[in-house]
Parts: sequence; C-alpha cells; structure tokens
Amino acid sequence: MDLTAVAAFIFAFMFPSCHTSDPGPTETTLGRSFIAAVYEHRVILNPEPHVALARPAALQHLHANLDEYERQAARAARQGVQILVFPEDGLQGFNFSRSSIAGYLETIPDPQQESWNPCTEPGRHNNTEVLQRLSCMARRHGLYLVANMADLQPCPLTSDPSSSCPSDGHWQFNTNVVFSSDGLLVARYHKHNLYFEKAFDKPPHPEIITFDTPFAGRFGVLTCFDLLFHEPTVTLVKRGVRQLVYPTGWMNQLPLMAAVQFQRAFSLGANVSILAANIRSDPLGMTGSGIFSPMSGLHHHARQGDAEEGRLLVATVPVLDPLWTGEEVEKQAAPQSGERNRETMEEVRGESCSSRPVDSGFCLKEERYVDSPPPGASAPSPPPSPATFTSSMMYDPFTFALLHGTEGELSVCDGPLCCHLQYRQSLQSSSTELYALGAFAGTHTVNGRYALQVCALVRCAGSEASSCGQEVEEAETKMDFLLEGTFGTPYVYPSVLASGLVLEQPERLERTADGGMALRHSNMSAGLVTACLYGRMYHLDLD
Ligand SMILES: *[C@@H]1O[C@H](CO)[C@@H](O)[C@H](O)[C@H]1NC(C)=O
Ligand SMILES: *[C@@H]1O[C@H](CO)[C@@H](O)[C@H](O)[C@H]1NC(C)=O
Ligand SMILES: *[C@@H]1O[C@H](CO)[C@@H](O)[C@H](O)[C@H]1NC(C)=O
Ligand SMILES: *[C@@H]1O[C@H](CO)[C@@H](O)[C@H](O)[C@H]1NC(C)=O
Repeated sequence: MDLTAVAAFIFAFMFPSCHTSDPGPTETTLGRSFIAAVYEHRVILNPEPHVALARPAALQHLHANLDEYERQAARAARQGVQILVFPEDGLQGFNFSRSSIAGYLETIPDPQQESWNPCTEPGRHNNTEVLQRLSCMARRHGLYLVANMADLQPCPLTSDPSSSCPSDGHWQFNTNVVFSSDGLLVARYHKHNLYFEKAFDKPPHPEIITFDTPFAGRFGVLTCFDLLFHEPTVTLVKRGVRQLVYPTGWMNQLPLMAAVQFQRAFSLGANVSILAANIRSDPLGMTGSGIFSPMSGLHHHARQGDAEEGRLLVATVPVLDPLWTGEEVEKQAAPQSGERNRETMEEVRGESCSSRPVDSGFCLKEERYVDSPPPGASAPSPPPSPATFTSSMMYDPFTFALLHGTEGELSVCDGPLCCHLQYRQSLQSSSTELYALGAFAGTHTVNGRYALQVCALVRCAGSEASSCGQEVEEAETKMDFLLEGTFGTPYVYPSVLASGLVLEQPERLERTADGGMALRHSNMSAGLVTACLYGRMYHLDLD
C-alpha cells in the first residue's frame, strides 16, 4: 500500500498510558508543566428527583456532595495539584424536571461583567451558598477549581417569537464554574449541547469561554456532549486554545464510544490536552475519567460493581498554551486575566484560524486539506473487494467485511468513504476471535444527530458475523496493523482500545496523499478490541 505522508504527523509518544495507576506528580516532561487532577465522583443522588425540594432541603443534599469535594480538594492540594476538575451533575445528580430542580438553582453572576470572590464577599449576592463553598474550597486549598452546577438567569419576556426566553421568564442552564486559587469566580460556561436534560435550556448562542492561569496559560471550558460538536469545542481549538477542562457525565458505549476512548481520541485528533472528570454510576454506565495530553495520558475506567467511592487522578501535564510565559502571567492579577478573556471573545468571529499561534492539528490539517490534491488524483489501485454485510454498530448501519487468516489486506467502502486495512496477527496469538473492518458514512440519528465518517476495526462479540459491532470489552488477539480512510473531513479522531479498557497510543498517525488519515500500530500490550478513525463531518450537521 502506497502511503504518502504529506507532512510529519508523528507522535513519538514518550509515555505509555498509565492505566488506572496513580503515579502522583513524579512524571516529568521536557519543558514546562503543571499538575492537574480530576475527580470521578460517585454522586450522592436525590432518590426522588421529580419531587421539588425547598431550598433548605436541596442545600442539605448539595452540601453532602460538597463535603466529598472538600475532602478531594484537600487530597489534591497535598499532592501539589494546581487545577482540579469535578464532573457534570456532580452536585445535584440527574433526572430533575424543569420545576423540580428549582431549589438547587443559584443565579451565577457573569465574571465578564463583574469581578466577584464569593468566599470573601458572600453578602454581595443572595442564594449563592454553593458558589460560596466552591470559592472557599479553591481559596483554602490554593488551587483552580472547576465544578458543574445549575444556574438560573432571568430573561426578558417578549412576544418576539425569535426570543429563546422560556415562558416562565428565566433560563435554567447546565453550567460550569471556574474559581482561581484565591476564590475569584473567573469563568462561567453554559452547556450548549444538552443530552436529554429536561431541567435545562440550551443557551441562545454558543458561548466560547476561556480562563487564564499563572501556571499554564489559557484553558477552554466545555461539558460532556459538547465534545462531539463544532460549538463550542472546535471553535475553541481554532482560536488557539490547547488545554480544555471537561466536566462530563458520559454513558459508555462500546465499541466506539467509551468515555476514555473518545477523550483520548479527541486529544490526539485535535492536538490538545483535556482534563476530563466523569461521574461514577453503575446503573447509568457512567465511568471513565482522564488527564490526556497529545503525548501522555492517565485514565481510569471502573469495573461494574467496584466498591470504590470515587477516584482522584493526578498527573503532570505539559503546558501547551503557545502564548504562556510563566513570568509575564505571574505578574498579572486575576482581574486582568478576565480582561484577556474579553479580548478573546471579540477575536476572530469567522472560521479562520486565530491570530494566536496555533499548533492544533485542526488548523494545520485544514490548511493541508484545502491544499491537497482532489481525491482520486493519485488513487492506488483498489485491492479485490471482499464479501461485505451490513450490521448495526452504535445504532449506525456499518458496512463490514470479515478478516480471514492471520494476515492480509482488505478494503470496505460506504458511499464516498473507503477504509483500508493491512494486518498481521502477532505470532503468540492463537485465538479464533472474529474481527471485522467497518465503514460508515452518514448521519447518526439515535440519541443525538451528527454527521460521521468512521473506519473501525473491531473484535466481533461472538463467532457470527451478525455479532460484529456489538459491545465487547475483552480480546486476546494482538495485531500489527495499518488502518486508513479517505475522509472528507480534516476532523478525524484516532483511538486504539485494547482488552480491559486499556488505551494504547497509536504508534504513528499520518495524513495520506488524498487528504485521508492513516493509523499505524504494532506491539500491542493486550488484545485488540477496537481501532478507530472517527471522522466528524461538522459541516453537514444541521443545528
Ligand atoms: C435518569 O436519567 C437517565 C439518563 O439521563 C436515564 O437513563 C434513566 O432511566 C433515568 N432514571 C430514572 C429513574 O428516571
Ligand atoms: C438579600 O436578601 C435580603 C433578605 O431578603 C434582602 O434584604 C437583601 O436586599 C438581599 N440582597 C440582595 C443583594 O439582593
Ligand atoms: C501538536 O502540537 C505540537 C506543539 O505543542 C506541535 O509541535 C505539533 O506539530 C502539533 N502536531 C500536529 C499534528 O499539529
Ligand atoms: C516491536 O517489537 C519488536 C520486537 O520486540 C521490535 O523489534 C520493534 O522495534 C518494535 N516496534 C516498535 C515500533 O516499537
């Protein structure tokens, strides 16, 4: 197979993924780094979320979860953590209605309009007990703190049908708040892409929110399902934001969408770091948190039934903000960092890459994509077509072909997308597990709508072709392979998932001559469950 690398797209991974280990801040990197933590929280739930609680009862519930946050913030501080991220819905839980969540709401002032430290000025705004506690927690432990809570914002009732103000005269937002290490509220982000959250409203416009830190420069803020969409995520990255804080409440779905699998894939595909804190809930299938940079990763995926209460992950992360200079920012007081945020908001409104130096794969890839020759200009001769069949994977009709023998080469196409695989099983693999190569180009329509082009090599759950695409977590077969696809998008997120939810760093990622992407991998540490190139066709999404 003739594979032309258009440009160096080489990831010389220095650190293997430290699966479920807790190395502490000992890992060192060349260059500057900071210490980050995420806490996977087993949220104490309200057993009757559909019944409205008065404020005192709601507060009592919120304080129970805040007590756990306090313990984890103290643990994190003892390990030198500079920024700590808590999960989505980690304070109130889920399954509220618009009215039953009322007692949990606070009105969160806009930090771009006013500078407020809830810990030192608790009297300035009524009904802000949660904000006060989070602020004091950040201040007491001397770390940046990211948490998710429920915000109530009054809005003007008008007869204008284009107004998104609900008929009760206020919005309710699923909201991330960020406090600096002295307790100042530095960022507020309203989740844009809701996932069946009837208690919350979609904000009228996507919010592109960042905050600056003295230890690592700028971070962008997003929540859970946002990770799959152009707004705000890709816009943040296009503006040069290379570090993301990411509270999530993600329900795992194999073979392509385990929480840590997509966190890892996004970090690699967009060349960014992501601090991802998930909820731990067995009944909802939620687990999977991680601290990922393009060159390193630490993650945790709990086993069903594990008794543990939660999991604090701590890792040293390289600073990726190209504008960050420790000294310069250190001198700036926090309010100035707020001003810098406003600058960003006014920056480039268009789709171009920002004036910030951008090292994200997105911008570079996009330029290459535009410059690259049209598909087919140098198309290699296709190998013989194998017998294909259609099977549902992640609710999408994938076109699959089975792998036969211990080594070989095959291609599968779905519409304009062709996926190609070269593979060789490792000698020690003697298993008879069934594998298939699948291609899907189309719009995913179940539990959300988004346009995709996906190439995936999967272990089938059973020995029948019809089992290909079903969930499976374990595998024994190790293989060396080259997986590539003729993607009609520069936004391709690569992942290699091995047995037992172990993430492997792809050995090599390259753009191909026709603008596609290739993933080369070998020497696996465990059996292959899924190798995936997950392409997002954002331009085909209907918002
Ligand atoms: C709670 O919400 C989740 C998803 O948000 C849903 O799967 C689950 O069935 C709900 N549980 C109850 C008791 O309503
Ligand atoms: C807070 O509530 C008290 C008592 O209801 C009221 O007197 C005060 O004006 C309120 N303060 C603010 C800032 O709204
Ligand atoms: C990713 O970012 C690093 C700098 O942080 C840069 O050297 C590298 O070229 C980038 N990779 C891609 C694929 O853009
Ligand atoms: C894979 O392992 C073999 C044998 O240990 C070694 O020779 C080879 O260099 C390794 N390849 C990579 C890419 O690490």
